[in-house]
Amino acid sequence: MHLHRYEKWWLTFGISALIIFLSIVGIQAFHQGHKPPSAKAFVDPERVNESEPFTKPGLHKVQGKEWDYELVIVAAAFSFTPGEIEIPKGAKVKIIATTKDVVHGFEIAGTNVNMMLEPGYISEYVTTFSKTGEFLIICNEYCGTGHHMMSARIKVVE
Ligand code: CUA
Repeated sequence: MHLHRYEKWWLTFGISALIIFLSIVGIQAFHQGHKPPSAKAFVDPERVNESEPFTKPGLHKVQGKEWDYELVIVAAAFSFTPGEIEIPKGAKVKIIATTKDVVHGFEIAGTNVNMMLEPGYISEYVTTFSKTGEFLIICNEYCGTGHHMMSARIKVVE
């Protein structure tokens, strides 16, 4: 088969561009790793219940930190623990969450809190609850047959 000069050139150019592109993607994936952007720490997904701070899910007052409370959440198909949380209005809260099984979402509807929970990783987010009322925590990552039922409630009280 005889290739025209330009065809050869374009073929070489196309292949080179592909190699360069794949290298960049590969290097980025290698350096940055595959983890949710909010994940700061690791936990053994098989031993979440025995691992601090997940031994005590719920809202805890803390001292000497930039936030007033820590809200520890454990997600598992198809629920969040705890399922009901009461938070005093104006509280600055660090949410610390993980999953015991598959990938789940953690979104507080009507706020800018929206995290991905991946097995093995701890996702964290600091936020202030400045409005009273009821807020729904929903799972926004498809996680199986009970996905649409997976939710919890936050009550922000005076
Ligand atoms: Cu958990 Cu969808």
